[in-house]
Amino acid sequence: MTGSDAAVPAIDTSRPHPARVYDWWLGGKDNYPVDEELARRILAVDGTVVRGARANRRFMHRAVRTAAEAGIRQFLDIGTGIPTEPNLHQVAQEVAPESKVVYADNDPIVLRHAQALLHSTPEGATHYVHADVRDPDTVLRPAAETLDFSQPVALSLVALTHYLGDEAYGLLQRYVAELAPGSFVILSQVTPDLSPEAIEKAAEQFRRSGTPFFPRSLAEFSRFFDGLELLGPGVIPVSGWRPGPEDVAAQAEGIVPVYSGVARKV
Ligand SMILES: C[S@@+](CC[C@H](N)C(=O)[O-])C[C@H]1O[C@@H](n2cnc3c(N)ncnc32)[C@H](O)[C@@H]1O
Repeated sequence: MTGSDAAVPAIDTSRPHPARVYDWWLGGKDNYPVDEELARRILAVDGTVVRGARANRRFMHRAVRTAAEAGIRQFLDIGTGIPTEPNLHQVAQEVAPESKVVYADNDPIVLRHAQALLHSTPEGATHYVHADVRDPDTVLRPAAETLDFSQPVALSLVALTHYLGDEAYGLLQRYVAELAPGSFVILSQVTPDLSPEAIEKAAEQFRRSGTPFFPRSLAEFSRFFDGLELLGPGVIPVSGWRPGPEDVAAQAEGIVPVYSGVARKV
């Protein structure tokens, strides 16, 4: 189990962490009072955030299923978050049980949960790397012990790039450069396009708590897909990406300010 048997760094409960704040919005129990406080403050300025988190999660499920149904059997999910069922490996392995999955995140609480989760999954199929996306070698080197990068991989950074500034573009290029043709790239992130004031206030709350936050416009988010072949329907708010019945129903409550897209490396 790659990386998952590493010593668990201390969990800092003195300030909110993005993974735990997101867990609170998803109705999870793996968060602390500081996380709940920030989650509630952001919810007060952006009333869509709980629906947005759920819609984002469902987008991840549909995108992973799309990749698996297209024949992808290897998945690298960076910024994976605290496990929330169904997790990516469950979606991929439901389509193809032999699918291999490597998760990566830099939050100690995610590592702790991954250790527990992965000990209960079949040996060899799902691995975890405790690493920072900004240090690609520390993600890619251990990932290559499980994944064969000469074959297509689905790389997902779902709801991660809004924690990264302009370095996100070069970082993504670095990861994509490792991928074989036929690989998939799955991305989503918060945008200010639909409700600029609410999103600016939400971003300000994150920044004040010590987490840099970078909402992106349609053009800025679309830049991540430069050089890749976008799958239909292109870059679109999460609930509109190949929606299922639950997403159609959710859209009736309003569009959430999270863009998504899935592309193929040609
Ligand atoms: C909003 S959650 C998204 C979780 C999951 N991808 C999803 O969409 O349901 C963002 C995750 O990115 C992780 N993250 C933030 N910055 C990171 C970094 N520099 N390197 C690795 N992971 C990071 C956080 O710890 C958190 O688990």
